[in-house]
Amino acid sequence: MNREGKEPVIAVDGLTKVFGRFTAVDRLRFNVERGEIFGFLGPNGAGKSTTIRMLCGLLSSTAGTATVGGYDINRDPEAVRQNIGYMSQKFSLYKDLTVAENIAFFGGVYGLARPRLRERAGAVVRLAGLDGLEDRLAGTLSGAHQQRLALGCAILHEPPILFLDEPTSGVDPISRRHFWDLIQDLAGRGVTILVTTHFMDEAEFCGRIGFISGGRLVALDTPAAIKRDAVREDLYEVSLADMQRARERVEAVPGVVATSYFGRHLHVFGRPGELTAEGLGRALAEGGMTVNSVERVPVSLEDAFIRLAATGREAAA
Ligand SMILES: Nc1ncnc2c1ncn2[C@@H]1O[C@H](COP(=O)(O)OP(=O)(O)OP(=O)(O)O)[C@@H](O)[C@H]1O
Ligand SMILES: [Mg+2]
Repeated sequence: MNREGKEPVIAVDGLTKVFGRFTAVDRLRFNVERGEIFGFLGPNGAGKSTTIRMLCGLLSSTAGTATVGGYDINRDPEAVRQNIGYMSQKFSLYKDLTVAENIAFFGGVYGLARPRLRERAGAVVRLAGLDGLEDRLAGTLSGAHQQRLALGCAILHEPPILFLDEPTSGVDPISRRHFWDLIQDLAGRGVTILVTTHFMDEAEFCGRIGFISGGRLVALDTPAAIKRDAVREDLYEVSLADMQRARERVEAVPGVVATSYFGRHLHVFGRPGELTAEGLGRALAEGGMTVNSVERVPVSLEDAFIRLAATGREAAA
């Protein structure tokens, strides 16, 4: 139960998936509320798609429970599937069918009667900006149009819950923005959305983020709170020419726990209170390097991602 006394739309408790001897998803526990956009982040192989497939009633769990829209994913997967829309990581369109045929196919899968299908097909074509393209083979559409058609097919039956697995991979930045406008519209109308992405700008649009690494949930909070709290280290940004050499030098400085390239800068993570900008600058100068600047900077979502992924790997090892 949440604060308002309502059941969460997605409730996950101890959810686990083991393939052979490999634990892909490890005792996940989180809830998602109605109308929330919940971002699922984590490195390749972290277990995001496996979790989504279990929550969609497409893959049984090894242990733990979850309810989606009030239905148990293991006991009632058919009811779960009727209540959700799912956009898989590789868009599940039929490339050798036309736009209209794809929509009709998914309409059949969701059991829409003819008049409703006609009405919804029109709505989906308009929403996806596919007017005039109804007779084009899906495989000949641009990446952005394929993506919007895939979303359209996933919401054909107006599901209250949507699972979107990397819906914007391979789509240009302007089309990604347009796509997120659609997502935010749906959430505004009460649709609950769980979405995975590797784009940090998109993660910022999420109400909350669950960060998964090595199958485990290693952080769960709003983007602002993750930036503020998830990394318990001080971050310094170093600007200089020879980043590779600087990285080796800096990693030998006591108190430094990690470094990463950040655009044209080097990011240096230090144990709290153990580093100073002057100290880092001095260490580099003593190594014969010309430093343009060293400054303490706030943790960005990308920094948090990098550190959470690393600490998740260490914990799982
Ligand atoms: N059917 C399967 N049999 C064995 N291992 C599997 C199976 N499906 C997934 N895995 C493994 O489980 C782990 C998690 O995979 P998953 O696809 O869930 O990761 P992901 O977080 O979605 O990664 P990505 O960001 O690359 O999409 C990977 O190591 C993957 O190889
Ligand atoms: Mg995946």
